[in-house]
Amino acid sequence: MAKEQVLVSGGAGYIGSHTAVALIEAGYDVVIIDNLSNSDMNAVEGVRKITGVDVPFEKVDCCDKEALRVIFKKYPFRSAIHFAAYKAVGESVDEPLKYYSNNLCSFINILELMREEGRENILFSSSATVYGEPDALPVTENSPRKPSTSPYGNTKQMCEDILRDSTAAYKGLKGIALRYFNPMGAHPSALIGELPRGVPNNLVPFITQTAAGVRECLSIFGDDYPTPDGTCIRDYIDVVDLAGAHVAAISRLIEGRNKANYEIFNVGTGRGVSVMELVKAFEKVNNLKLNYRIAGRRAGDTIEVWANTSLANEELGWKATRTLEETLAAAWAWEKHVRGL
Ligand code: NAD
Ligand code: WQD
Repeated sequence: MAKEQVLVSGGAGYIGSHTAVALIEAGYDVVIIDNLSNSDMNAVEGVRKITGVDVPFEKVDCCDKEALRVIFKKYPFRSAIHFAAYKAVGESVDEPLKYYSNNLCSFINILELMREEGRENILFSSSATVYGEPDALPVTENSPRKPSTSPYGNTKQMCEDILRDSTAAYKGLKGIALRYFNPMGAHPSALIGELPRGVPNNLVPFITQTAAGVRECLSIFGDDYPTPDGTCIRDYIDVVDLAGAHVAAISRLIEGRNKANYEIFNVGTGRGVSVMELVKAFEKVNNLKLNYRIAGRRAGDTIEVWANTSLANEELGWKATRTLEETLAAAWAWEKHVRGL
């Protein structure tokens, strides 16, 4: 019997490449599309090497609807996972139109073609950023979304709403939004991982680049927050665990186990970790000293947020299994691989 095929848009990126591996390992056929605006072919080669499968790759911009239509005509997938988006929060404040244009157009094109070409199942990459500074912790899927402080965050809220309204209106279209907390780490093979361009905005790549000597010193943004050690708290989710959540969610749609046409799941560990705890854990598991200093607070930072993951645990039958230490060891192994250390 032919394998079930899944389109992975943005599959040359960080989370998309790990998800492509997890899908193939779970028995799916994968087609990767990407415009390589924030990635390169190394990740696709990494996916091929890890899985031993010559995964088809097509260089396509999802904002180009006619080019995207060619992909829909060429491949018979019933399901798609849409990762393709820009994701730098700070840049989105400086260049809002770039973010609204890319993140909204790419998603609308995918949805329109799903409809026009009779495809059924779509997963959307949403973010814990939609919760802002929560009133109560941990956040559940029913916690209120807060007005976003960035155009990037707005695109996530808007795309969630577009998916909700489309699945309500168009018969045969089913969707799930996965709200990722803070993805980190890399595949244990060290063949794929996170490769930010320029100075990293996110904590873990800044830590690994500092350990590798690419950055001089990690600035910890604030140690005077009302948390036990004064630093901010997040729910850091291993990217391999996160990839597994996509397999669970797309399988739910493909097998018709969804309870509504549109569902939302938090994807985190359910555990809050402070910046200082993470730095200390990184030093300990990798047996090194990190050069860091306490700096001022970063504008717009949430003080603390972590997930209630009961819904994903029960409904998707999925749970994060990797420990913080395992993940930080994998992140360091990947950085060393990239730097040839
Ligand atoms: P990434 O930049 O590594 O991957 C995104 C990929 O999409 C890149 O390979 C990029 O080249 C591609 N892309 C962008 N616009 C495109 C377009 N118009 N057409 C085709 N390809 C396009 O980012 P990531 O960390 O893997 O994030 C994947 C998704 O998850 C994004 O939607 C992001 O907003 C979301 N997300 C990420 C995080 C995080 O912290 N990494 C957290 C929550 C949500
Ligand atoms: C984590 C913690 C920083 C860098 C962002 C987006 C969010 C989502 C994930 C996409 C914070 C501290 C960081 C540094 C530091 N992305 N930090 N020094 O801000 O939780 O979320 O990425 O959807 O939308 O906003 O992640 O990794 O930037 O920061 O002290 O050099 O690390 O202050 O407390 P954040 P982050």
